[in-house]
Amino acid sequence: MVLKVLVADDISMLGLQKLDVLANTEVVIRVGMTESELLEEVKDADALLVRSQTQVTAAVLDAARRLRVVGRAGVGVDNIDVAHATKKGVIVVNAPDGNTIAAAEHTFALLMSVARYIPLAHRSVMAGEWKRKNFIGVELLGKTLGIIGMGRIGTEVALRARAFKMKILGYDPFLTEERAAELGIVKTDLETSIRQADFLTVHTPLTKDTRHLINSEAFASMKKGVRIVNCARGGIIDEVALCAALEEGKVAAAALDVFENEPLPADSPLKEAPNLILTPHLGASTVEAQEQVAISVAEEVAHILADEP
Ligand code: NAD
Ligand code: MLT
Repeated sequence: MVLKVLVADDISMLGLQKLDVLANTEVVIRVGMTESELLEEVKDADALLVRSQTQVTAAVLDAARRLRVVGRAGVGVDNIDVAHATKKGVIVVNAPDGNTIAAAEHTFALLMSVARYIPLAHRSVMAGEWKRKNFIGVELLGKTLGIIGMGRIGTEVALRARAFKMKILGYDPFLTEERAAELGIVKTDLETSIRQADFLTVHTPLTKDTRHLINSEAFASMKKGVRIVNCARGGIIDEVALCAALEEGKVAAAALDVFENEPLPADSPLKEAPNLILTPHLGASTVEAQEQVAISVAEEVAHILADEP
């Protein structure tokens, strides 16, 4: 029997070639399927490969008669019903390391952008203006950076912030004093990070504990003029509360790469909020990261299809 690997999102060919060369394996690329097309295509799939776009719901898993593995080319598995997959004996594998640097560097690009309003200044110049006084930024030197979530990406952001001579506060339930000292940062609680930060960046998964972790109450306790970045998951920052905080000037500028609803709805109030910079979930979008996650997840899937440990 020929094994079918269904590819539902854009995944680098370098990874897919690893599956294509396997004996008795057919790689079927169907990017951008509707839900009903996915339900039909997945019926006879042995493996399903996705990024963050395709929602692998209980209905999708139930429609699949032969599915053995769902491969996620990236970190977050929040678009996959992992509990239901486990119940059905379907293994879920991800590629946790391949896009760490890409996401950390994008976070830094956004931190620099909220410090210096770069995209907003670009838009102004393109509109024929020359308003230098409107874009007076701040320096990173000596400022306090609060990092919520000191895992792979949070750690890489901290290392880069040290080069900019920032004071770094890290909050993560698993961060030890020893590790913090090793990284040259200060381990704090959540409230202290939020209260003392001049710049705040979140790097946690989206869970029931982190949904709206940064809400109106958190904004109220922040310094006036704080700058905020979310390159982790939409929903960690309450978007309605963020818009209000930007409107009243409590937050001087913010940058979001991820959103409560993706793609961002055309009528989203985020588009009207002042000093808000938006990118369309680009954290992992580098040539290097996409190759690495594709290769890593393809190798995992190949092992599982070959019944290897
Ligand atoms: P990771 O698992 O290495 O780190 C996550 C950290 O968050 C862990 O150390 C964990 O202890 C901590 N954490 C969990 N709950 C917390 C809480 N309530 N408060 C504080 N800390 C908490 O993951 P990672 O690889 O660093 O990825 C971080 C996030 O970035 C994930 O949500 C991932 O999906 C996202 N991500 C986004 C992009 C993008 O394209 N924008 C790219 C890669 C990863
Ligand atoms: C991830 O969790 O890996 C990122 O959101 C990147 C992606 O989905 O491509």
